[in-house]
Amino acid sequence: MAQLWGGRFTKETDQLVYNFNASIRFDKKFYRQDIEGSMAHVKMLGKQGILTETEAADILAELKKILSETEAGTLEISDAYEDIHSFVEAVLIERLGDTGKKLHTGRSRNDQVALDMRMYTRMEVAQTDALLKDLLETILKIMKEHTQTVMPGFTHLQKAQPVTLAHHMGAYFEMFKRDRLRMRDIYERMNYCPLGSGALAGTTYPLDRSFTAQELGFYGPTLNSMDGVSDRDYVIEYLSALSTVMMHLSRFSEEMIVWNSNEYRFVEIDDAYSTGSSIMPQKKNPDIAELVRGKTGRVYGALLSILTTMKGLPLAYNKDMQEDKELTFDAIDTAKGCLALFRGMLATVTFNVDNMRASAGLGFTNATDAADYLVNHGVPFRDAHGIIGKVVLYCIEKRISIDEMSLEELKAISPVFEADIYDAISMETCVNKRLTVGAPGKAAMERVIALEEKYLRESAFPQSEWEEELLA
Ligand code: ARG
Repeated sequence: MAQLWGGRFTKETDQLVYNFNASIRFDKKFYRQDIEGSMAHVKMLGKQGILTETEAADILAELKKILSETEAGTLEISDAYEDIHSFVEAVLIERLGDTGKKLHTGRSRNDQVALDMRMYTRMEVAQTDALLKDLLETILKIMKEHTQTVMPGFTHLQKAQPVTLAHHMGAYFEMFKRDRLRMRDIYERMNYCPLGSGALAGTTYPLDRSFTAQELGFYGPTLNSMDGVSDRDYVIEYLSALSTVMMHLSRFSEEMIVWNSNEYRFVEIDDAYSTGSSIMPQKKNPDIAELVRGKTGRVYGALLSILTTMKGLPLAYNKDMQEDKELTFDAIDTAKGCLALFRGMLATVTFNVDNMRASAGLGFTNATDAADYLVNHGVPFRDAHGIIGKVVLYCIEKRISIDEMSLEELKAISPVFEADIYDAISMETCVNKRLTVGAPGKAAMERVIALEEKYLRESAFPQSEWEEELLA
């Protein structure tokens, strides 16, 4: 057991207590952020004359070594320490003696962990954004290829009106685009540095908080030290945004599963993204899509968990907040993994465009357009609706589609029908006459695609070299 605070204690910590309290098992995940934070802190201590230039330089050099050795695996993070902060400090002291003991001057583990968690989350926000951008590129590629691929659009999972595959994919494009905007927004709000908040009340040392903030790529220091150590809003916001990402991925997965089913056959998921059955030789299952759908609950769970942990906490730091890590790390890894896998699945899926087209042709998806035809010939809409209702009933009885009715049959129901009805209710006409902004008509769709291409080229994240480093 190695801990930093034995001085005022007369008894050893019970082993069970020690294990319960320790966080190194999971907070070692942000060793890099912890060491980088310490490096900025010690540079500042030297600059301010709180440590001598030599002391600061010695500590800085040793921290650099600790970082590269940890990265290379030659220095193993030992679970014998309480947390990652204690581990790094212990190694430093072991190597530098009394000089090493000066690193923690003007700092508390409370502002240290607040900094580490913020830097780690910030990096993950940037990486999530990059994964979302990849997914958007894949979706846009499909949109460009399928502006003329007619398929049924659904409401209540009943065929409603014909749309195109480009249009259907475009809906997901909008969702994931909003998800990216949320990442940028979270980043803007969270990018302030809590280091220098101390345990809760700042410190008596003349720290230069703006300097450390700038060193670490923040816009500036946080403006209240109690808030600095106890704010986990950015974790909640990020988990909330990830929950929304997962909700979108889950809806998309559900459609892929349905479309891949034996009944629909709109798509065939690639062999590389499917699995077999141990008993039924014929099976090829969409397990990846199912797992993405399933893992959504896990990410929601993390959000609910941290919201609940935070709700009763008095200011400022409380140990409850250590619970922010495990579930958050798991949720981030889960969501990022799902984004990458889903993109791969989508990029390799085969669209059975003939089946989509045939399905749109059945199920009276052109009934609204048939009614609009009558309206264009002077029939009031409510009457037209009734007439087409009769047409549909007739077709159901005869087991045919509207365009398979003869003109005589149509005229028997309404004399307004003429030979041009067939062109008016063809799937292609139904789709391509829908030209309002956001509608599936080819010309409308192409305008949107051009806008989305421009958006992807210019999208604002990462904005700086510093932000690019977060993605490396
Ligand atoms: N492991 C702790 C956490 O994750 C670090 C901060 C400890 N601070 C303290 N006062 N015990 O929150």
